[in-house]
Amino acid sequence: MQPSSPSFRVVFSNEQILRRAQELARAIFTATPGEPPMLVAVIEGARPFARLLQKFVPGNLPVHEVRASSYAGTTSSGTVQITVGKDLPVRGQHVLLLEDIVDTGRTIEALKAHFLAAGAKSCRVATLLSKPSRRVVTVAIDYLGFEIPDEFVIGFGMDLDGRYRDLLDVVVYEAEVERAFLAAGVTAR
Ligand code: IMP
Repeated sequence: MQPSSPSFRVVFSNEQILRRAQELARAIFTATPGEPPMLVAVIEGARPFARLLQKFVPGNLPVHEVRASSYAGTTSSGTVQITVGKDLPVRGQHVLLLEDIVDTGRTIEALKAHFLAAGAKSCRVATLLSKPSRRVVTVAIDYLGFEIPDEFVIGFGMDLDGRYRDLLDVVVYEAEVERAFLAAGVTAR
């Protein structure tokens, strides 16, 4: 946690996140008794969410990591490139992708397509947050923490240019709040 930080508006407190993650973990593991999924976190953002779920699931399952970058490119569709975890051994596995936030849906769509093509038996999605109003492609979310409106949020793994990932709560980023904070002579990180 940051020792001091701008007073952004809290959307979900750490305690709320904890409680919801516990419920999701229960739902995930009653849905797949005896067949533990292969947990794959979309880094960097989903690391705290993945760690939390991992704590609540039986069997001490490892969390694998995948990183995807979006490039707008020259077409309006955008392309997603998998830069870490492309060759995870998913053949025959029930993959469960763990995401911090589903926005346009392109990242999850690309990752699902990739892992299914690589031989995963199934590929489901658990995400802490979703912004349905921003969706560009249709993606099924199997386990959802919370829906949020079209606001840019930070904290609990989510960042703005690398800043604020380690805030314990999910808060709304507001440039004016940050400016006022910085003007008071404190350095954001
Ligand atoms: P998508 O492919 O558009 O669904 O993008 C998902 C990714 O965009 C997430 O994993 C985040 O890295 C990033 N993202 C989207 N909305 C936000 C936000 O409000 N705050 C922080 N990151 C976001």
